[in-house]
This record gives sequence, C-alpha cells and structure tokens, in this order.
Amino acid sequence: MRLPKVVKLVEMGPRDGLQNEPATISAAVKIALIEQLADAGLKAIEVGAFVSPRWVPQMADTAEVLAGLKKRPGLTYPVLVPNMKGFEAALAAQVEEIAIFGAASEAFSQRNINCSIAESLERFAPVAAAAKDKGIRVRGYISCVLGCPYEGNIPPRAVARVAAALFKLGCYEISLGDTIGVGTPGKAQAMSDAVAEHVPRERLAVHFHDTYGQALANIYACLERGIAVVDSSVAGLGGCPYAKGATGNVATEDVCYMLQGLGIATGVDLERLAAAGRFICQHLGKRPSSRVALVLAARATEAAAGK
Ligand code: HMG
Ligand code: MG
Repeated sequence: MRLPKVVKLVEMGPRDGLQNEPATISAAVKIALIEQLADAGLKAIEVGAFVSPRWVPQMADTAEVLAGLKKRPGLTYPVLVPNMKGFEAALAAQVEEIAIFGAASEAFSQRNINCSIAESLERFAPVAAAAKDKGIRVRGYISCVLGCPYEGNIPPRAVARVAAALFKLGCYEISLGDTIGVGTPGKAQAMSDAVAEHVPRERLAVHFHDTYGQALANIYACLERGIAVVDSSVAGLGGCPYAKGATGNVATEDVCYMLQGLGIATGVDLERLAAAGRFICQHLGKRPSSRVALVLAARATEAAAGK
C-alpha cells in the first residue's frame, strides 16, 4: 500500500505528556503550552482528563485549562472521559470532543479504570449516547494493544474485539495504544490488520510510547498499512501512571521530521513545535527525549549567540 500524502497529528503533550509528571504544572503554563502548540499548526490537542483527581491529580485543573483557551476554528481540544461523571464535567466545560479509553488487557483495565473490559464498555455506552445527543464527537482509545505490563503478550484478536465494540458505540476514530512501547513493526502491522477487519483503516490512529525506541519504525509500518492519524507528544513527554516503567509518547518533533522527509504533509511548523517543547521542558526541569528536538535546541542556542 502507498504511504498517505497527509497525516493528521494528534498532540498528547498536555494530557499524556503531563499526567505522570511529579511536579505540579500550573493551569497557566498548560494554557501557554497549548497555545504554542496551536500556533505551531497542530489541529488536535488533547488538553486534559475528567478523571478522578485522586487517581490522577495532575489533570484536576482540566476545566480551568479549557476555560483559558482561545477558540480557534478547525482546532479541537479533546479530553479523556471515563464515565458519566466525567462526561458531565466535560459538558459543563463545553468541550466539542471527548475520548473514552478502554484496554485490550483485563489486568490493565482493572489497574487503570478499576473495572473489567466488559464493565468499561457498559460505562462507555451511556457516555457515547449522551455525547451523540449533545453533538460531541467521541474518540476511543485501546491500551496495551501490543503488550501489557501485567499480562505480557496481548493477541491481536483481543484488540480487534475491543475496537469493534468501541466503533459500534459510535467512536469516530479508534486510537491503538502501545502503552508500554514494546511493539515492533511486524507485530504492529499484524495487530492493525486484525483491527482493520472490524474498523476501516481510515478510522484508525496509532499511539506509540517509545520505551524501546521502536515508535518511529512502528508508525512507518502502520502508515504502510493505510493508517494516517498519529498520536505523539511534544518533547516525547509522558507515560501512564498505571504502566510502570513505560516512557513517554513518541516525540511529535521526531514524527514531524520523519514525515517531512517522506514528503508527507502535517501542517506543523517544526521550529515552532520544538520551541514549544523547550518551553515545557524548562518548566519541568528536563531535557526533551527527542533527538530532533535536541538538534534544534542546539541550533537555536547557536543562533541566539550569533554563531
Ligand atoms: P472508581 O474509584 O472505581 O470510581 O474509579 P467510583 O465511581 O467508584 O468513584 C470513586 C470516587 O471517584 C468518587 O469520589 C467519585 O465521585 C470519584 P468520592 O465519593 O470517593 O470522593 N469519581 C470521579 N471524580 C472525578 N471525575 C470522574 C470521576 N469518576 C468517579 N470522572 C475511575 C474509576 C475511572 C474514576 C478512576 O479509575 C480513574 O479516574 N482512573 C483514571 C485513569 C487515568 O486517567 N489513566 C491515565 C489515562 S489513560 C492512558 O494514559 C492511556 C492512553 O494514553 C492510551 C495508551 O497509551 O495506552 C489513553
Ligand atoms: Mg498513552
């Protein structure tokens, strides 16, 4: 299959990127980050989660973050919603898009959202129905599509089953999450092929964490399979609090650089994106995990010094 000409990037930095950070990041800093990401040309930026503040304290200010954002035509700010309580909060915050999040692994589902896969689908059904009623778009995630920190190997048919169920609930897109970043290209293709028997490829997205450094290769492998939506996180920030040892999402800078090199349009300005990454890394007191970001940071320092 030919590679897509255009790829949509869904930016995870403000949510997946920050949800596991030990340092508290103020709503003002999150808003500044999101505005910089939007200025860089990203059209979908996940900005937070209406989940239990006891489970994920870093996302407790999601309503405040949403209230502080400029509305921009053509730009969506999805938020995670695990249940009706989360949906009510998202509705009050006037969101246009939510994401429900399940798993292909029973053990991960229990650790992450405190219920079985079947129970999670029962909880998502009224959320999806209420969202449809209010004209709110629903995205679906599946975690552990290529491996689980508790169960190990996950068969593609288990992923396909959950994908089919989420699609039936009305998700316009299903994002396939390699939560712990253990996947390799052949396995990623086999898994996406199994899912594509139930959900059209143009409704699929990929969401690779980069723990083993395989994310770019996996993304390329899935582009070859006709998937044209990629989740990533500026500066490679992030990780799930319920997936110990897993590193952040693939860095948006790395994905952009690869896609630019392939002649695939993203609409993202790499220099501005990298500057947004430096901004948030300064606040976190860490270096970007992206090689591309580090090269661009060195160049920016040289330019500032007039070299
Ligand atoms: P629970 O304890 O089973 O919920 O948690 P409950 O319904 O029994 O309620 C317990 C308490 O939580 C009550 O408060 C509720 O009001 C409150 P209390 O009476 O004790 O004071 N509560 C809520 N508060 C705020 N917002 C809500 C909400 N729901 C209940 N929506 C629950 C179930 C799902 C809430 C919990 O397990 C939870 O919040 N989990 C968070 C999981 C999470 O955010 N994980 C990280 C994101 S997923 C991810 O990173 C993976 C992804 O990136 C893809 C990939 O990489 O694989 C998407
Ligand atoms: Mg994730």
